[in-house]
Amino acid sequence: MTTLEIELPDALAAKLQELVEAGWFTSEDEIGRLALADFVARNRLERQDQSQREDTARPLAQKQKTPDIVYRPIGVIHSPFDDPEDMPIQPSGKASAPGTAVIRPELTPGLADLDGFSHVILLYHLDRASRVDLSVVPFLDARPRGIFATRAPTRPNPIGLSIVELRRIEGNTLHLDHVDVLDATPLLDIKPYVPEFDRPAETRAGWLEEQGGRVGVVKSDDRFR
Ligand SMILES: C[S@@+](CC[C@H](N)C(=O)[O-])C[C@H]1O[C@@H](n2cnc3c(N)ncnc32)[C@H](O)[C@@H]1O
Repeated sequence: MTTLEIELPDALAAKLQELVEAGWFTSEDEIGRLALADFVARNRLERQDQSQREDTARPLAQKQKTPDIVYRPIGVIHSPFDDPEDMPIQPSGKASAPGTAVIRPELTPGLADLDGFSHVILLYHLDRASRVDLSVVPFLDARPRGIFATRAPTRPNPIGLSIVELRRIEGNTLHLDHVDVLDATPLLDIKPYVPEFDRPAETRAGWLEEQGGRVGVVKSDDRFR
């Protein structure tokens, strides 16, 4: 017979003692086997728990090569547009399209010093884009173009970007003009527009060079819904 020296957890040892006294076991061998099976099972569970705890603690970025990213909107954009039909396709697409960006109240201190800028860059979630297209016929063309060569909303990550006029700030509300988004669009970020940073000296506009001047004439429709 092999003798195994194992340390039983106190509660298990007490339980075994109770069972022995109640006459449950016919031999010490049987007690040993039972204790060993219990010990192994507990140990396995403990190790599993431990590795699960470590897994949760490990930063998401280490677990996945391309982790999903979750952002909470900083606020909401309001505009006169409830329907994509007939709305502007870009901020420059309408002489005036007033709107507001209402920031979560607790983020209001972050708006300090923004009022000195005439324009802000809005980054937002195009929440009513219902699918992903890698090729689209954009508003300003009749031929399909690669999604990343367009501003169409049906992108793999439906992030919109608009440079809009900042008229004034009241509390947590930015009063804007030239808004080209649907009412109640979730706002992800605001940055000041800085010509020195954001306006390159020399540019090319790819396939859009043939479409010059039409952004003010062409209106949106519901092709991306
Ligand atoms: C062509 S996108 C351009 C948006 C932004 N200026 C950009 O370049 O990322 C503008 C069009 O997207 C659509 N749109 C506006 N707000 C949207 C929203 N919240 N979800 C999905 N589509 C939206 C409307 O058809 C609008 O005319």
